[in-house]
Amino acid sequence: MRIRKAVIPAAGLGTRFLPATKSVPKEMLPILDKPTIQYIVEEAVESGIEEILIITGRNKRSIEDHFDKSYELETELDKKGKAHDLEILQNISSMCNFYYIRQKEQRGLGDAVRYARVFSENEPFALLLGDNIIYNQGLPATRQLIETYQEYNGSVLGIGEVSPEMVNRYGIIKGEKIGDTLFEVEDLVEKPDIGKAPTNYAMLGRYVLSPKIFKILEETKPGYGGEIQLTDALKVLAKEDRVLAKLYEGKTYDIGEKLGFTMAQVEFALRDPQIKDAFKTYLKGMDI
Ligand code: G1P
Repeated sequence: MRIRKAVIPAAGLGTRFLPATKSVPKEMLPILDKPTIQYIVEEAVESGIEEILIITGRNKRSIEDHFDKSYELETELDKKGKAHDLEILQNISSMCNFYYIRQKEQRGLGDAVRYARVFSENEPFALLLGDNIIYNQGLPATRQLIETYQEYNGSVLGIGEVSPEMVNRYGIIKGEKIGDTLFEVEDLVEKPDIGKAPTNYAMLGRYVLSPKIFKILEETKPGYGGEIQLTDALKVLAKEDRVLAKLYEGKTYDIGEKLGFTMAQVEFALRDPQIKDAFKTYLKGMDI
């Protein structure tokens, strides 16, 4: 089955980035010159996605504006003969079809995903979390998951190995290894205590899910942190249906916290053809 739809939750308050996120959605904070959510949308589009639902909330209107056409700016750039900049701008709004829905209360990721039920039209869909940006020169991570879904006919969780001291920040899987980079998922736990995790394989913000998840989410009670956890619903799904976990290729940046966000800035700058040489020279000469 072709997978055409993606869901991007973007309703979080971004409290880890206050005061920057007091009036600017955290998804609009840039890495170099691009808002982080645009990296996520581009990954989806490069993976073959045509329709994207962004789950937003109050104070997130600038996300919609960003993916809309900007007549005034485009006219100005056209008048000034800035064809390259104009093309960049036009691509943003024409990449795919965007849909928006607002999560009314902060009740957790599982609750946010529930808002995608009608949008999914009972088709499997990709889910991309904005706190993880994946740099990849080969197939985008979401594409790798879609291909796994198609080959094995089961939901797929994108995973990576994390150090034992980091397991309490992620949803952790337990499963049987059935290929070099593939696991058959048996169980899941959201943010286990250090030392109590079944493995060090963490879900890193990419999923391709069967629409069966929606019925389960309706019945999922608040879990870790008093929130409705997607992980708890996936645990039920794994008992009822096939769920796989895929160690995808690519470098993941956890931009949901200051250190990861800064690492992403530095490494993206070191890859940017326009500034990398000057930036490298600057870093080498730094005396902090
Ligand atoms: C969420 C999920 C968690 C996953 C993580 C990836 O947690 O609940 O299972 O491992 O994203 O970043 P959050 O970081 O939103 O607390």
